[in-house]
This record gives sequence, structure tokens and C-alpha cells, in this order.
Amino acid sequence: MGVNMIKSLHSLSLYVPKLEVGKDFYSCMGLIPQFEHNAYVFRCEGRDQDQLRLIQGNKKEIAWITWSTDFVGMALIEEKIQQYQIELYEPEMESKYLKKSKKEIWLRDPDGTLLQIIVAEPAQQSRPAFKLNHPGEVFKRVAIRGAPNRLIDARPRKLGHLLKFSPDVNRLVNFYVNILQMKLSDRIGDKEVAFLRCSGDSDHHTLALALSDAPGLHHCSWEMGNIDQMQLCAQRLIQAGYKDGWGVGRHIYGSNYFHYIRDPWGSLSELFWDIDYIGKDSDWTVEIANAKGESLHENLYQWASSPPPDDFLHNYER
Ligand SMILES: [Fe+2]
Repeated sequence: MGVNMIKSLHSLSLYVPKLEVGKDFYSCMGLIPQFEHNAYVFRCEGRDQDQLRLIQGNKKEIAWITWSTDFVGMALIEEKIQQYQIELYEPEMESKYLKKSKKEIWLRDPDGTLLQIIVAEPAQQSRPAFKLNHPGEVFKRVAIRGAPNRLIDARPRKLGHLLKFSPDVNRLVNFYVNILQMKLSDRIGDKEVAFLRCSGDSDHHTLALALSDAPGLHHCSWEMGNIDQMQLCAQRLIQAGYKDGWGVGRHIYGSNYFHYIRDPWGSLSELFWDIDYIGKDSDWTVEIANAKGESLHENLYQWASSPPPDDFLHNYER
């Protein structure tokens, strides 16, 4: 058992230097934009929840990350904040971009990233599961053409996780585990990469951290309905002129299929499918993979169409 403090990654708010450039990129990815409260807010088709907010800024950087909990979880978080004497943040400028939530608190993590914690239930998806011939299913198709038309619905279903660069991964792990009661799922190296999940039922990671000499956003990650949707979405972005980041491949930690596309400001958007899921009371043994020399890159993937490009872990926000 254990308390369920952070229930889900709710949304990401980013400052970007050009709103329209961001709107074009994420619309091409298949998110649905709406201009409200002075910002572009994006949702996934069939899901009644804001997932991404783009706000006019001087450069691309995380504005804040929104996590959700329930009233019981909120009370426990407030206790932890008192216990560890964490200072709360009073949003002023941020408020003009937001609707009021039922209950919320704001604080900064040790790298200075602003966190908003709200009381909210994660919204369900109304789109049906999209079934095509894919790995893991009994092959039943006989004398029927299976290649999906490239015009199939190939749009994200959910914001799955974020990967933040940090100059001190372990300091952040301690913060997210001790204060917000997130759980460590796996690591690559004892200070290089860490994967954290929400305290209840959760994807393998909803927040990952990678060592860099400065904070920054490495990628935000979007769940697709299957591998065809993932690849068709990536193909649509590449054909529109956006830069291929890395993929297709399959990760070791999280196990998900991935395809990364560079956003217009050097971060990555990952399209993923089939990530490991860990139940609230599941047995799970944390693995610490080797990060020495070439091992760091080798432990990023089981297989991929190519090895990771040299700049895969480059922090363009430095
Ligand atoms: Fe990822």
C-alpha cells in the first residue's frame, strides 16, 4: 500500500519565442489548438484535458509543469511541504493564462522548475482503441490487405511523460521521491539518468531526468494508439519539413517503441506506443544500468533503425 499523492502528469506549459511556429508544429503533430487566456492550449482528440500550453516568451523553456492529485493527496503533499520547509510560490503572471482550479498549490523543484499541483481527475479518452495487425496479437488476418491507409487517424492520445535535463539528477530524484512521493522505476548510471513514475498505477515513467550542465527540456512524449499511428505521425511531420530526431526504435527502460522529432527550438517531441505499466501494488525491481562510456547510449535502446544521433542528449537550452 502507499499513498497516492501525484496521480498523473496533467499538462506542460512552455514559453516559446514564436507562438504561431509552435501552433503549426503541434497542429501538424495532430493536437487540437485553441487560443484562450492569451495562450495556445492544445488537447488530444477525444480527451477533455489541456495537455500543452504555449505562452509568448523570449526563448523556449519550461514555464511550469502541472501535476494532478486528489484532495487526500493534496493534504499529504501539503504536510510534506511543511515537513521539508519548502517555500510555496504565489502565481501572479501565470494566473492570467489559467482558469481557476478547484484547489492548487505552486512550488519550485531544486532546479527552479515551477510546478503547479492541482486537484483533478485525469480525463478519459473517448476514442476507441485502434486495432490493426501489430506485435503481440494473434495473427488472424487471412486474405485481407493489412497495410493501413496513410490517412488513418494518427494523432496523439495523451501526454505521457517529460524528460528534463538537470545538473544534479540525484537532488531532483530526492525531491520528487521525498516531497511528492513519486517512485523510482529504473536508472542508467548512478547519476546520469533516472525514470520516475506517479505513486499510484502509472506508466513506467511520467518524469525522466538526464544529467546536463544546465536545466532544460529534453523531450515531451505523446502516446499513440499503435505503431502504425506512431510512424505515420512521424512521417507526416518529417514530410512537412520538421527534423527527424531518432527512430523508429524500442527503448529498454519503459520498453516503449519511439520516434523522436525535433521541435522548432531544439527540444524533441517523442511519439511512443506500448510503454511498461506498473500497478500501485506491483512488485517492481529497480534496475541500474551501466552508464560508462558507450554504455549510456547503448542502454537507451534495444533496437532502432540507427544508433542515436550524436546530439540526442545535447541540451540546446544551455
Ligand atoms: Fe521518452
